[in-house]
Amino acid sequence: MEITGFEKIKEISKLGYIALRRSRISRSKSTVQGEYENGWKQYEAILEKCDTLESWLYLKGIEDQPIICNINGKMCFTSYNMPEFNRQSILRTMKNEFDQISSITEFGSGLGRNLLYIKKLFPHIQCYGYELCVNGVEMAKRASKKFGVDVQYSQLDFVNDSEEKYVFPKTDVAFTMYALEQIPLASSKAIQNILNHVHKGSVHIEPVVENYPMTLRGVIGKIDHWKIDYLRNFEKGLKKFSDIAFTKEQVNTSHNPLMYPSIYCVKKINSK
Ligand SMILES: C[S@@+](CC[C@H](N)C(=O)[O-])C[C@H]1O[C@@H](n2cnc3c(N)ncnc32)[C@H](O)[C@@H]1O
Repeated sequence: MEITGFEKIKEISKLGYIALRRSRISRSKSTVQGEYENGWKQYEAILEKCDTLESWLYLKGIEDQPIICNINGKMCFTSYNMPEFNRQSILRTMKNEFDQISSITEFGSGLGRNLLYIKKLFPHIQCYGYELCVNGVEMAKRASKKFGVDVQYSQLDFVNDSEEKYVFPKTDVAFTMYALEQIPLASSKAIQNILNHVHKGSVHIEPVVENYPMTLRGVIGKIDHWKIDYLRNFEKGLKKFSDIAFTKEQVNTSHNPLMYPSIYCVKKINSK
């Protein structure tokens, strides 16, 4: 249900107030680990209770609750299957932009659920996940074993780690889903490392603030994401690569009413 009229003014004022009052943080590797090591550990008990893969991929009582979110750029209060939307957005872009994909890597795979979803739909595709936080990797391995879905996961910092940590073979394509958002000024380094480990290219669904609309909510979103030190200058970084071509699409649908994500498809030149 779209939020309109007085309710809309009230909600935007609240969001603006929170954004302006928030202290500015500096996001480092230890900030990310501090947030996600604990966060992913909480899913141990949740995974335990999930009897089916489907229930793990869309968590009842958690992800199906109505929230204030952004749907096609409209502020709504609704229950919306965001994980499915994001996964389908990545798959649609891959299908449209690349021929014959037989292997995929996710960088910053968190709990590893996106890859279980993909593997279940396309059993012939080899799937690999790299994740910074060991608790995410552990949870992902446990879920893949529990639901009998053949995906492999390993711990990796895709910005700083050296070659020996890339333990999986080069894949046709790679993707990130809200993982580059966590590395404010290192996205070019991350993209270089990702491209070094794929044949064709990569797809990224990320909040690229430079693409946010110049509406009140868009501007509050820019301020808020600057305060929490999310990804900046992503496209500027991409333009410095001489051996790629890229496309972008605004999706403007997100769990956060201040977030207007973009999908970038990066292709290594001379690959299809
Ligand atoms: C918002 S979560 C998204 C997780 C997953 N992509 C998903 O859609 O559910 C961001 C993830 O990126 C990971 N991450 C952040 N920086 C990373 C890095 N340098 N190398 C590997 N993973 C990283 C975090 O640990 C976290 O698990």
